[in-house]
Amino acid sequence: MGVSDKLSRNNWMYIIIILIVATVVTVLSTALTYRNATNASEDSMKLHALGIAVSLEASLSKIGHDRGNIFKTIISEGRWKGIAFLALYDKDGTIILHSNENLIGRQVQDRSIKTVAETGSAVYEYIELGTGENVFALNFPAHVQNSETILRLALHTYPFYGMVRQARLQLISISVLIVCLWGIGFFFVRASKRSEELKQAMAEKERLAMLGEMASVLAHEIRNPLGSIKGFAQYLIEQKTENKKQRTDCLNVIASESKRLERLTDDLLAYVRPAAVRLEEFNLRHLIDEVVMSVIPASDNNPAVNAVNVSGLKILNIKGIKIHIDIPENIKVTTDREKLKQILINIIQNAVDASDGNGDTEIKCELHEKEITISVKDNGCGIDRDTIEKIFQPFFTTKAKGTGLGLAIVQKLLKSIGGSIEVSSEHNSGSIFKITFARMLSANGHSMGSN
Ligand SMILES: Nc1ncnc2c1ncn2[C@@H]1O[C@H](COP(=O)(O)OP(=O)(O)OP(=O)(O)O)[C@@H](O)[C@H]1O
Ligand SMILES: [Mg+2]
Repeated sequence: MGVSDKLSRNNWMYIIIILIVATVVTVLSTALTYRNATNASEDSMKLHALGIAVSLEASLSKIGHDRGNIFKTIISEGRWKGIAFLALYDKDGTIILHSNENLIGRQVQDRSIKTVAETGSAVYEYIELGTGENVFALNFPAHVQNSETILRLALHTYPFYGMVRQARLQLISISVLIVCLWGIGFFFVRASKRSEELKQAMAEKERLAMLGEMASVLAHEIRNPLGSIKGFAQYLIEQKTENKKQRTDCLNVIASESKRLERLTDDLLAYVRPAAVRLEEFNLRHLIDEVVMSVIPASDNNPAVNAVNVSGLKILNIKGIKIHIDIPENIKVTTDREKLKQILINIIQNAVDASDGNGDTEIKCELHEKEITISVKDNGCGIDRDTIEKIFQPFFTTKAKGTGLGLAIVQKLLKSIGGSIEVSSEHNSGSIFKITFARMLSANGHSMGSN
């Protein structure tokens, strides 16, 4: 599993944990609101019922025995809101008065009535009516004309449950919302997983395509020199020639083609190996001189080198190619010397190659506060617009014997020392390659202030 996979998995884990916590908190707080609303409604029903009961107890005592059906009248007049029925029991459970006249005189075995008769304390309860409705009832010990009775007062819950209904609605809508959010969340997780998988599949496909391309380029690059080596070796075996010059020519080709193969493997390793940075302080001018001298033999096997030093400016003249080195003698740089050398060799070699045996190459530097820019300018063949976009691609080359790895290596090594590269070129007029990097690279890869 890759680091990015782990990161995105962790991100999803965090999102899911946050979602779970948010869901639990929201559901709990809504449930709490619902419970509080239920309690508040019950309290208000209790108060209402108690008020009616006290007032009824007083009225019943005042009226005496000539009560008619006072309960029925009270309900039909709607004197108090929400009364479902009223009943008055004696201690044995016989109904003395009832808003439903048909029930008067009946005896009931009711636990709440019994409890009130025995304890003398009010009892609250929910009762289910014959219609299926649940009503809230107060069983109240009423002292009516010297006798202990029990007043049962049942209230419709509907008028008192406004708050509860609101809280219930809130609970339902929040639950629906949460379910929808989770649904949408899962949809996105699935979609993003799917797109991640697709991305990975695409990347794998691209990697395989690139590998295939690399393999075919490599096969081509290896087959050419191998073909020459095999051909000339075969020739030497078959001809058994005594001609010394012919033998030397054949052996020269075999040696140079072997070198080409060796360079290809070196370049390949430089490109694919991880680039650990080794810092050291060194003189920039000495490094550039070293680089130029190592490039010269590659551009010409037997150069007639004339070096002229004019106040720090060194001009090397190699069979028509002039290399101007305009770098002060006293610049100290702290970075990876070997990597910078490799970078400069590739860029200067390209400049010399572009001059095709006749041109000028200028190597200059600009000092900035923390960075340094080295420019390599040639007046060679230049690079056309279409080509310039491809020059950093591995194996891209316009040279018969190039590997096309030079600039790809340059880019990789520059990245490892925190540097950058800029190219400007005009077809048939020449090119400038500018590299910028830290004058003092610190071990953590950042540039430090210089003095
Ligand atoms: N200074 C330059 N002038 C003109 N063309 C250039 C210059 N530098 C690079 N190029 C173009 O960029 C291409 C890629 O360069 P790169 O150094 O990567 O490979 P190469 O020089 O072809 O091969 P190698 O460096 O392996 O010998 C070259 O083939 C050439 O076409
Ligand atoms: Mg090159």
